[in-house]
Amino acid sequence: INYQRAAFLTSAPDIKALPADAGIEVAFAGRSNAGKSSALNTLTRQNSLARTSKTPGRTQLINTFSLDEHRRLIDLPGYGFAKVPLAVKEKWQKSLAEYLTKRASLKGIVVLMDIRHPLKDLDQDLIHWAVDSELPVLILLTKSDKLGPGARKKTLFEVRDATLAFMGDITVHTFSSLNKQGLADLEQVLDLWYQA
Ligand code: GTP
Ligand code: MG
Repeated sequence: INYQRAAFLTSAPDIKALPADAGIEVAFAGRSNAGKSSALNTLTRQNSLARTSKTPGRTQLINTFSLDEHRRLIDLPGYGFAKVPLAVKEKWQKSLAEYLTKRASLKGIVVLMDIRHPLKDLDQDLIHWAVDSELPVLILLTKSDKLGPGARKKTLFEVRDATLAFMGDITVHTFSSLNKQGLADLEQVLDLWYQA
């Protein structure tokens, strides 16, 4: 797949406003500030396709991008941002669960976690929902440039070990949008999902 061909499609305020549920969709999810939008820009070689920010909670809308007529990428709003009111948080968690369970075109979910703070409670909830929905999961341990090679490997192996307990189709790689570490791994997994 040529990810450079990605083009902005729509910003949806909720899952009901997403494009028609046809073709193949892959969603990027994770805590606020995990690096979802940065990873999408790295994947598509476009610096400002998805909006990135130092302020957590920047992406409030579900942004959708087309790769071709049948394939889409989805940038989901981050969860776990402390300053969001509880009612909004709960509503979003419900929508996210609904999206994962009911979206027929969703063929895989990329869960991004800062390599320095992996597998927080909400990440684990998300992975459980994905496994329950029989969706393959790619965990990207982001900002891998923040750790040295030894610590990076250690965290990678620890997270791989911990994910065995979910009993699902889960792949784990480290990733950096800064130096493109892990980009080939990301493309390889997505190519597989988009082939189905
Ligand atoms: P929300 O949309 O708020 O949920 O955040 P997000 O997950 O889309 O994160 P975003 O891509 O906006 O990145 C958040 C911050 O982390 C920004 O300041 C980025 O520059 C930084 N960042 C993202 N990826 C990397 C990386 O690989 N390495 C380093 N060092 N910083 C990164
Ligand atoms: Mg974002």
